[in-house]
Amino acid sequence: MHIDPLERKWVYVSLGMAGLFVGVILITALFNDINAPSNVETINSATLHLSKEFAEDNLGVEVKPDGKLVVRMVAARYGFFPRDIEVPADTRITFRWVSLDVLHGVHMPMTNMSTMVVPGFVAELTTVFPKPGKYPLLCNEYCGRGHDHMWSNVTVIAKQHWDKAHQTSQGTESVDGDEENE
Ligand code: CUA
Repeated sequence: MHIDPLERKWVYVSLGMAGLFVGVILITALFNDINAPSNVETINSATLHLSKEFAEDNLGVEVKPDGKLVVRMVAARYGFFPRDIEVPADTRITFRWVSLDVLHGVHMPMTNMSTMVVPGFVAELTTVFPKPGKYPLLCNEYCGRGHDHMWSNVTVIAKQHWDKAHQTSQGTESVDGDEENE
């Protein structure tokens, strides 16, 4: 089969570009821990409120016994619930999002928080907010007539203030967490 030299050159260029892009994705995933912000974990949107994890009382910020932070939130027309959350800066926080109805998107300006919230799936992402401040959470997938008004608030407070507030109530923030400091 005859391949024109110019065509062959372009075949190599396009293969090279594909290889480069795959390489960039692999390198950032393996060395910088940057991954597509979702995992494949299914959930029934119709019975969320009855589920163990996303029942109303379990929403919001949870400090695990080992000090890890998990935030659970429900996106629904038209808001993110709970409406106000407070989290520390300079701390790894895992967000778990579910939708009660249709496709929503979460976007937190000035941060790298951005993910789709697909009904039927749990969208999970882990991030660190470097700067304290008040941030809005905005919906960035058109979800209906109230889409423009779908938002809530995140307050990021300095890590030392957070640690102070949670040391007294938890008593488990220090190294191994098996001392009771009452
Ligand atoms: Cu929710 Cu747009």
